[in-house]
Amino acid sequence: MVKKMLFAASEVYPFAKSGGLADVAYSLPRALKNLYAVTVVMPLYSMIDRDKHSITSLGESFDISMGGVDYPIDLYSCSVEGYEYYFIYSPILCDREFLYGTPESGYKDNALRFAIFSYAITALLKKKCYEIVHLNDWQCALAALLIHKDPVLSPKIIYTIHNLAYQGIFESSILETIGIERSYFTMGSLEFYGRVNFMKAGIAYADEVTTVSPTYAQEILTHEFGCGLEGFLHFHHSKLSGILNGIDTEHFSPASDQMLVSPYTDAKGKKANKTNLLKRLGLKGLTKPLFVFIGRFTGQKGVETLIEALPQIAECECNIALLGEGEERYHEGLETLAKQYKNISLTFGYDESFSHQMYAAADFLLMPSLFEPCGLNQMIAFRYGAVPVVHRVGGLTDTVKRYEKYQEDSCAGYGLVFNTPTARALLSAVHRACDLYSEKKHYERIVNHNMKSDFSWFESAKAYSTLYERLY
Ligand code: GLC
Repeated sequence: MVKKMLFAASEVYPFAKSGGLADVAYSLPRALKNLYAVTVVMPLYSMIDRDKHSITSLGESFDISMGGVDYPIDLYSCSVEGYEYYFIYSPILCDREFLYGTPESGYKDNALRFAIFSYAITALLKKKCYEIVHLNDWQCALAALLIHKDPVLSPKIIYTIHNLAYQGIFESSILETIGIERSYFTMGSLEFYGRVNFMKAGIAYADEVTTVSPTYAQEILTHEFGCGLEGFLHFHHSKLSGILNGIDTEHFSPASDQMLVSPYTDAKGKKANKTNLLKRLGLKGLTKPLFVFIGRFTGQKGVETLIEALPQIAECECNIALLGEGEERYHEGLETLAKQYKNISLTFGYDESFSHQMYAAADFLLMPSLFEPCGLNQMIAFRYGAVPVVHRVGGLTDTVKRYEKYQEDSCAGYGLVFNTPTARALLSAVHRACDLYSEKKHYERIVNHNMKSDFSWFESAKAYSTLYERLY
């Protein structure tokens, strides 16, 4: 009998997305389709277009009782290409402009909002008898504790950390509001330097804890990357492992991508896309290498390093196109540079189809991340034949091989790798990238090789399924 699994995440593509978690929550359940009966559950945020996705009420409502207050919940569902999605609707959780907060700060009542989500997940487990529950990131971590506390529930719990930098830390006074007894306010449970840490619940009460690359699973045990949880993770290290994410190779497929001006299958086929993008962005020089940065303008993504290095990168014979949005303090710095250098183009915002066009046009993708649990962009870049230029950290270490070690028969993806997250190291990698680009034949051989490398979910889904099975 195929086991029933509930996969819970606070964002899922195509309904709501702020980062890579949404992509994983879209593609991992799909990759598991022949092995498990997976239902994905997420909040029904007000920005989700119910009509577009044919989301309808299940006609099931119930109350969650926390700290003497009842919070009403309505269940909704939809089915996309045969995959089942459940949505939790609660006004406090869902009626917001953003998912987690304004660009300046998180919503003040996030503890309550995501406690509601976690209680609702637990209620669903009771109603529908799932055998496995897969929880992701801090927003549903509290569900692990609620399941642990519940005398009736006994599903196996997998908890995945997509980014240890966001742990869901709140004042301890919240415990009463979210109906958690003070007896859980201990070092072995929720307590974290006098405050409450939701992520600790996921780590403490899950049967297995995973993170999204093997290298990150090692890094988070260190002071440098552990974000204060390294000791706690050490304590639980026997159930900690790293499974590399994949990408949806049907969605990211340059050969059939309808978002592209000209779909293609090899290095040469990129030309029409590059010509078009340069024109659109007002950049000149088809024969110059085009470097792109796509992603959030945040500290994690190495934007500071990028801003510091950009003036010198711009002095090289190349074009640079940046797409993203993030912290206000970086916006200004980037804008100044884009005004100053005519070979730098900057686009604020996030537009899925424009990002596909950028991957298709790009010769190189810049990823100077300070830390990177997995990183999906470098894998998308391989697929679209943009050679990644990356800081050797986290998932980037696991996915990008140094191009100097290129081997025809290997299934790896190749790129330019630098060891320290400094402007100098990034600049030197860009110089090497320009040199590589000038050896046209070699460069194209690497591009063609990368485009064929396998970053699908196939292997990762197998690894998750082995993990799930180990629990039985
Ligand atoms: C987070 C991480 C990123 C990872 C993604 C999906 O956004 O920062 O590295 O690829 O989650 O797991």
